[in-house]
Amino acid sequence: MAKNTVESSIGGIKSVWGPLSTELIAGCRLQLEELLTAPVTEEWLAELHEEAPANQELYRDPAKGFVLLAHTEHAGLYRPPHDHGRGWVIYAIQQGEIEMGTYARIENPDGSMTLVKRNLTLVRAGQVQVYLPGDIHDTRCISGPALLFRFTERDLKKEDKEEHRVTRYVEQHGIWTVGAP
Ligand SMILES: [Fe+2]
Repeated sequence: MAKNTVESSIGGIKSVWGPLSTELIAGCRLQLEELLTAPVTEEWLAELHEEAPANQELYRDPAKGFVLLAHTEHAGLYRPPHDHGRGWVIYAIQQGEIEMGTYARIENPDGSMTLVKRNLTLVRAGQVQVYLPGDIHDTRCISGPALLFRFTERDLKKEDKEEHRVTRYVEQHGIWTVGAP
């Protein structure tokens, strides 16, 4: 029997793992929702609340390559629009509220680029959001401290620093543009 909710959720993810598909996302989403039901009496969760780490790896799968991270964010923390390279990501909010915006990158007739905001969603405790390869989003912590889990299909640090596949955007004179790599 699984010892805690992280282990049972990871077990569930491993059992559905395969190429990216609607079924895979639905299966992983379900496991992340399950993870959010973990009682705070579980030691790992009590520790996260107590220590409030900005960034902590909870699990890394040596064979399949996926990673589960925990982040603590203070109210007002803003992460500007970015994609996740070839990876896909599921955010699950354990505590607090995070506003997540999505964007599309539109190429103008003159070859320049405009980032257009599609929508803004307030993600509350108990809720998850999925971002597929190519999706562009930003996050702003509205109520903190927020504790969020970030399940990433691959190591996004590698995707960013070694593969240079992650695109970040910066605002210049009110317009979002591609940031320096
Ligand atoms: Fe992200």
